[in-house]
Amino acid sequence: MTSSDMEYLTIALPKGKLFEKAAKMLAAAGYQAEGLNENSRKLVITNETLKVRFIITKTADLPTYVEYGAADIGIIGKDVLLEEKKDVYELLDLKFGLCRMVLAVPEALAKDSLADYAHMRVATKFPRIAEQFFHDAGVQVEIIKLNGSIELAPIVGLAEMIVDLVETGRTLKENRLVETAKIQQATARLIANRVSFKMKFDRINKLTEALRTMVDSEVAK
Ligand code: PRP
Repeated sequence: MTSSDMEYLTIALPKGKLFEKAAKMLAAAGYQAEGLNENSRKLVITNETLKVRFIITKTADLPTYVEYGAADIGIIGKDVLLEEKKDVYELLDLKFGLCRMVLAVPEALAKDSLADYAHMRVATKFPRIAEQFFHDAGVQVEIIKLNGSIELAPIVGLAEMIVDLVETGRTLKENRLVETAKIQQATARLIANRVSFKMKFDRINKLTEALRTMVDSEVAK
């Protein structure tokens, strides 16, 4: 780690649904930077007074930045952590961004048993999680990896079903898909690079405890 790396605490935030709440929580804990917003063209935003640097990444890439130490810590969904399987410390469940990973199919294709989906195609942004789910169920399927708008796949015949995240359920409903199995729940997590956690322990620990107090007081409400 260079002395400049040591001087700053680098925090990675993902573009997308978790960004706003994550930035808000960090600001409430005293970590903010002028111009930090999801749509900023500037991808590194620094607060020189606090010696804090924010980087904004694509959601699926965030654990990679933290694993390699390009960011010391980050906030990311448990779903992405399970899919990406990177070597990072998971420090805290931030308890927001609750969603569930489900198997969904067009209404007309809904079956009683998982075995009835054997040999069908599943479109997903989460091929590892989908693979594991069907493997555990002993059902052989073909996984098709996509990068977004997964609900489109069954409509145009690219796949019979999808494994995707559901938050409000609106997207499934609007695309006439029904949930046929729940795979797991996910919330936002605070993660840290293993080396940074040791080298910058005091700073990371202070931030973690500030966020923990916030999470505990929200849960107690
Ligand atoms: C996620 C997810 C669903 C949608 C679910 O997609 O993949 O498409 O949100 O939310 P809802 O239950 O509240 O409707 P996201 O908006 O992150 O973008 P994507 O289509 O690029 O995956």
